[in-house]
Amino acid sequence: MSNEDLKLKVAKEAVKLVKDGMVIGLGTGSTAALFIRELGNRIQEEELTVFGIPTSFEAKMLAMQYGIPLVTLDEYDVDIAFDGADEVEKKTLFLIKGGGGCHTQEKIVDYNANKFVVLVDESKLVKKLGEKFPIPVEVIPSAYRVVMRALSEMGGEAVIRLGERKRGPVITDNGNMIIDVFMKVDDAVELEKEINNIPGVVENGIFTKVDKVLVGTKKGVKTLKK
Ligand code: 5RP
Repeated sequence: MSNEDLKLKVAKEAVKLVKDGMVIGLGTGSTAALFIRELGNRIQEEELTVFGIPTSFEAKMLAMQYGIPLVTLDEYDVDIAFDGADEVEKKTLFLIKGGGGCHTQEKIVDYNANKFVVLVDESKLVKKLGEKFPIPVEVIPSAYRVVMRALSEMGGEAVIRLGERKRGPVITDNGNMIIDVFMKVDDAVELEKEINNIPGVVENGIFTKVDKVLVGTKKGVKTLKK
């Protein structure tokens, strides 16, 4: 069974948590995309009244494609947000997100949801955050050099994320740059705050407020809670 099969299993399980009348935070990435498709199917088949708040341009386009009516945080609170992750620390359920460069809007929606549910396949589970994946940091373009210096002073190896099929840096949905920081994460709660304290940083991809993680394994979908 491939990781893609496991992601689909998780998406199908997650969509069962949606109830009529809910406002749903729609995450970003390949796993969240499967969830959005499954949610669209449920809305059509069961004639549910459900609204979505997207966490990225990609999530917005998918929601429109699958017939999910969209609203904004200006008007509504989020009942449950469903989103993917790049790493999940098994013991704490802390995350690294932002592989798609969308962690700022993801954090705004996910942290403000009444419940935040994370959808991953088992390859995303790690003992310690930062094992496999760098911490993505969204940065105001004029500050990239000084932010990179500050991140290096904190012990990280900071690299500008470059585009594919586009020369130069990746530009986020918010018009900013992404600096990927390779570093050991000893205290995720402190590091999340410390990085955000650097002038010029918009948001970083450490997520420490998670309610539940659904993990797709070869033996079925497991639920991890704190
Ligand atoms: C995007 C994200 C994604 O949720 C994360 O990269 C996981 O993606 P996928 O489900 O494709 O593995 O944080 O910014």
